[in-house]
Amino acid sequence: MASSPRKKDIILTVAVIVLLGLVGFRGVKCSRTGKVLESASSFSYEAINCRKHSASLTDFGGVGDGSTSNTMAFLKAIEYLKQFESDGGSQLIVPPGKWLTGSFNLTSSHFTLFLHKDAIILASQDEKEYPLIPYLPSYGRGRDAVGPRYAAFIFGTNLTDVVITGNNGTIDGQGASWWDKFRKNELNYTRPYLIEILYSDQVQISNLTLVNSPTWFVHPVYSSNLLVLSLTILAPIDSPNTDGINPDSCTNVRIEDCYVVSGDDCIAVKSGWDQYGINFGMPTKHVIIRRLTCISPDSAVIAIGSEMSGGIKDVRAEDIVAINSEAAVRIKTSPGRGGYVKDIFARRFQMDTMKYVFWMTGAYGSHPDEGYDPKALPVITGISYSDMVAKNVTMAANLAGIDGDSFTDICISNVTIGPSPKPKNLQWNCTDVVGLSSVVSPPACTLLPDEGENPCPFPSDKLPIDDIQFQTCSYQGNS
Ligand SMILES: *[C@@H]1O[C@H](CO)[C@@H](O)[C@H](O)[C@H]1NC(C)=O
Ligand SMILES: *[C@@H]1O[C@H](CO)[C@@H](O)[C@H](O)[C@H]1NC(C)=O
Ligand SMILES: *[C@@H]1O[C@H](CO)[C@@H](O)[C@H](O)[C@H]1NC(C)=O
Ligand SMILES: *[C@@H]1O[C@H](CO)[C@@H](O)[C@H](O)[C@H]1NC(C)=O
Ligand SMILES: *[C@@H]1O[C@H](CO)[C@@H](O)[C@H](O)[C@H]1NC(C)=O
Ligand SMILES: *[C@@H]1O[C@H](CO)[C@@H](O)[C@H](O)[C@H]1NC(C)=O
Ligand SMILES: *[C@@H]1O[C@H](CO)[C@@H](O)[C@H](O)[C@H]1NC(C)=O
Ligand SMILES: *[C@@H]1O[C@H](CO)[C@@H](O)[C@H](O)[C@H]1NC(C)=O
Repeated sequence: MASSPRKKDIILTVAVIVLLGLVGFRGVKCSRTGKVLESASSFSYEAINCRKHSASLTDFGGVGDGSTSNTMAFLKAIEYLKQFESDGGSQLIVPPGKWLTGSFNLTSSHFTLFLHKDAIILASQDEKEYPLIPYLPSYGRGRDAVGPRYAAFIFGTNLTDVVITGNNGTIDGQGASWWDKFRKNELNYTRPYLIEILYSDQVQISNLTLVNSPTWFVHPVYSSNLLVLSLTILAPIDSPNTDGINPDSCTNVRIEDCYVVSGDDCIAVKSGWDQYGINFGMPTKHVIIRRLTCISPDSAVIAIGSEMSGGIKDVRAEDIVAINSEAAVRIKTSPGRGGYVKDIFARRFQMDTMKYVFWMTGAYGSHPDEGYDPKALPVITGISYSDMVAKNVTMAANLAGIDGDSFTDICISNVTIGPSPKPKNLQWNCTDVVGLSSVVSPPACTLLPDEGENPCPFPSDKLPIDDIQFQTCSYQGNS
């Protein structure tokens, strides 16, 4: 006998309540001594906060076969978990499997997205799965195209205490189709970033493998207290605009132990674009970059700019390994940008096979539109590079300031640069720069006169972001 539709509804409702009840009661324990458990249903990870409530994608109909869409499963899971925002927070577990999905939003504070080590989240290649969202106010348009832009694959805004982590699980942006359409000029809007977090505080993104983003991989904007730790970021070295990590108008940022191979800058520190960035006026400041390994044959290990119109101040980079990259540190700007780049410190870089070690470009161009003010000149000052060794280098340094707006207070000390078999005759080309050098080989240009033993500064004070305490979050599943 067929049951009436109403009866079916009741049975379904009861089943959902029972299911959600089970989900809600799964145990999550926090301890500082928990041992690392690695079965499919038990694991532990380090995070700024552990969560009281927990659910798995499979509780919401998720199918990890690589071809079934999980867009609804992510949506429902995240909607369900939102109720715990002010009750100890929650985590969504992505179990082993290949989970295809469209763009999804993180919508609650005190939330963790955890990927099992054998979990792969696959980004849909269908543009319809990426809603259009407004351009960033500090950019005045999308980066690829005017007007709105596709939402990031994983997007979050106005959040506090959000963690995206895993025991090296993978997020695959499946960027190839986007790159292809971008190259053929078939896209009408800016490509989606892989992970973009706006207007948020206390964000941890760690212990993940991120591959093949449609464009930039990790893009925190207008946010503070960011930890980006132990990421492996991989994209073909000829893929367009696949920057690794781009803090943009952010304060207190710590990027550590990342390995990046990409078609664009491994890290690019930014703060808005020309008149839009000047008006928005939100700088990036207090950025720590440590133990980065970078391969970027056509771009920089660390770029500052070119969007820097809100100002960039106090960037500290140390213990960096660069292999086959275009430049170690590249400052990119232009008349029209306004803003400033101040107090940039870099030390202890080991480099092999570089086109340039140091590069500064005051004529980068690349304006959002014709409305920029050519008289808005950027202030570039207080740039300190020390204790570096490079081998197989084509040209030591190409430092070009702006005519009438020299880049000042540049200091380079204890740097040994070994030439490639076919080096440029001119190893140091300097124009419109002011500063000094000390124990640099080959000797720097005459605009950076040798001052004898005179090490360049590197700050010795500790930034608050270095004092963050991690907890070990242990999870025991019920299987
Ligand atoms: C995250 O990665 C780092 C570096 O590989 C490692 O030391 C740390 O134990 C990892 N954390 C977890 C919870 O896997
Ligand atoms: C994510 O949130 C934005 C608003 O911040 C919205 O426009 C977009 O449609 C949401 N994406 C999805 C997949 O719901
Ligand atoms: C997010 O925060 C910004 C800055 O505080 C605010 O202007 C905006 O309205 C907020 N958006 C939402 C969706 O709450
Ligand atoms: C994470 O996975 C990537 C890709 O498989 C691998 O290259 C890397 O060594 C792994 N990292 C850790 C800490 O296991
Ligand atoms: C871009 O716009 C054109 C003209 O409206 C349209 O034919 C094309 O399908 C659009 N492309 C995409 C990828 O949406
Ligand atoms: C040195 O750099 C050149 C490019 O300038 C590269 O082709 C060559 O393989 C590098 N040699 C070594 C030993 O890495
Ligand atoms: C110069 O830099 C090297 C590393 O490149 C370092 O080992 C050495 O201690 C530095 N010398 C001084 C005097 O700081
Ligand atoms: C040196 O830099 C200036 C200014 O960017 C440029 O015009 C010139 O061509 C460069 N010279 C060489 C030899 O690269």
